[in-house]
Amino acid sequence: MKTTRLLPLAALLLAGSAFAGDHRYTLSPAYVAECGSCHVAYPPALLTAPAWATTMQGLGKHFGSDASLDAKTHREISDWLQTQASTRDKHAVSGKTPRLTESTWFHKEHLNLSLPEKTTSIAQCNACHTRAEQGDFGEGSLKSNRR
Ligand code: HEC
Ligand code: HEC
Repeated sequence: MKTTRLLPLAALLLAGSAFAGDHRYTLSPAYVAECGSCHVAYPPALLTAPAWATTMQGLGKHFGSDASLDAKTHREISDWLQTQASTRDKHAVSGKTPRLTESTWFHKEHLNLSLPEKTTSIAQCNACHTRAEQGDFGEGSLKSNRR
């Protein structure tokens, strides 16, 4: 199809533009509704497609919680995550319950940080990224906690 073939080119053009370092992620409303209630809806592009598939297959036993979905919503969110997922090794993680906070990229980007008071986990992105709920991880909305 013509449109799909054009996509890689569009992505290349975007990567070369001023938006490249923007760190804003588009989040689908269904994803925010279902996956943004216990924690922020994590940027889908920070995990690979296989890792998202594993996450979605294990929702019944999800980090000590039951995050199961009805079949229709499950398929909708799974399909959407697959289209948004990263294809880069630096975002790949393994394990039964993949954590994007364990990727090579995440570690490199979050070296030597101390967690703010009352924050129990680095997975609470919004403790530092004040607009994380909107998918905005730009430096402009960052509370710095670098030691
Ligand atoms: C019932 C509450 C709940 C719901 C709903 C929920 N999660 Fe979670 N999720 C958790 C908990 C608890 C953790 C562990 C958080 C931590 O370590 O601070 C977690 C962690 C994660 C992590 C790993 C974060 C890291 O450390 O990198 C991913 C990825 C994730 N959830 C994806 C999802 C997706 C996708 C959905 C929607 C299908 C979802 N979650 C819905 C409770 C939930
Ligand atoms: C303890 C505070 C803290 C927490 C919690 C945190 N981050 Fe960050 N994050 C930072 C800091 C500080 C930087 C800037 C690093 C730099 O510029 O070198 C950063 C950088 C980033 C960047 C790159 C932004 C840019 O402009 O370069 C992204 C994307 C990001 N974090 C995503 C996340 C996600 C997703 C989570 C939750 C799973 C998270 N962060 C949790 C502090 C935090």
